[in-house]
Amino acid sequence: MRIAFLKETAPGETRVAATPETVKKIVGLGHSVSVAAGAGVAASVPDQHYTDAGAEVSADGGVSGADLVVKVRRPTQAEVAALKPGAGFVSLLEPYGDKAVIDALAKARIDALAMEFIPRISRAQSMDALSSQANLAGYRAVIEAAGLYGRAFPMMMTAAGTVAAAKVFVMGVGVAGLQAIATARRLGAVVSATDVRPATKEQVASLGAKFVAVEDEEFKQAETAAGYAKPMSAEYQAKQAALVTAHLAKQDVVITTALIPGRPAPVLVTEAQARSMRPGSVIIDLAVAQGGNCPLSKPDELVEIGGVKIMGFTNLPARLPADASALYAKNFLALLPLLADKESKAFAPAWDDEIIKGAMLTKGGAIIHPSLAPASAA
Ligand code: NAI
Repeated sequence: MRIAFLKETAPGETRVAATPETVKKIVGLGHSVSVAAGAGVAASVPDQHYTDAGAEVSADGGVSGADLVVKVRRPTQAEVAALKPGAGFVSLLEPYGDKAVIDALAKARIDALAMEFIPRISRAQSMDALSSQANLAGYRAVIEAAGLYGRAFPMMMTAAGTVAAAKVFVMGVGVAGLQAIATARRLGAVVSATDVRPATKEQVASLGAKFVAVEDEEFKQAETAAGYAKPMSAEYQAKQAALVTAHLAKQDVVITTALIPGRPAPVLVTEAQARSMRPGSVIIDLAVAQGGNCPLSKPDELVEIGGVKIMGFTNLPARLPADASALYAKNFLALLPLLADKESKAFAPAWDDEIIKGAMLTKGGAIIHPSLAPASAA
């Protein structure tokens, strides 16, 4: 089949879904590859490197002739209109976002797969783009915090006096949170963390950080079968707030990463709690695109309240374009065998495979994913 990689158009998006390394491997598997001109420039990949790897580079990436089109971000309506009916489309489709694009993909008879919905089973770990990107986001959140913080992270004993270690509190210990803890520790900070899933307690301790959480009966049941957090009751949230209020007031840097799939992000740092922090403290809100863990944070805008800097990043992986692209491109490469017929190499999703079943949103003109299809169809 012919696989096309398009240039991202979302504002601030620097990533690309293919690298010369993955193009070479895809060509080696017997497929032909086209890449849109300039697609890799922001990720430090010149067009010539794709050509050298065996791709055809053209202005539109050869989208209309492609059997499978791949991007990092969801397509625009114009991109959907350019797809060949019956073609496949793979990207981070934001399945819970504006439904018009998913409807348009269905209407255009595209088989569209959402990278976000790849089940988190061990066989699919290499395809897990949420993890590959969240890990980088967690690292970068700490680097951004260190840049905004007017003090140092490690303790330093100098002839002119002692610099105290920064106190960093990570709220939400999924993939991003764990990497944030590890990065802050490497920089010499004193780190603590909280989460509602009991499994995180040991993970936090193993990274040398202190665990802070309300460990009641609800906490023991807070993890879904899929490994995600459940929305917590108002009572739990009140207890959680009471516990962290005193702790927050003593922190220099707070990094929030708490999400609940398909729902607004839980509020973990109120305005009063943010104001209780000392001037010069930094809050980095990674959940800002889902409404934010701190109501004061604004998408990609620095807010200062009482000397506390609050920064909400909507796309931290895009601030590490080369690594984020390389990992995303590998996630797609790992998925590709499930989208191609072994013998003919034609586009042929393995519809019976649980990974395809879990991640395919549209097929043959309809929305087929149970979490998006109308109740009667689900
Ligand atoms: P996420 O991005 O959905 O959420 C981030 C964190 O926020 C989670 O740890 C969640 O428990 C936490 N959170 C939600 N509400 C909270 C609240 N009120 N207070 C504090 N924390 C709150 O999570 P992510 O990073 O996608 O990880 C979800 C799960 O998937 C984890 O169990 C992770 O270990 C698992 N996972 C499994 C993989 C596999 O087996 N292949 C791969 C990657 C992750």
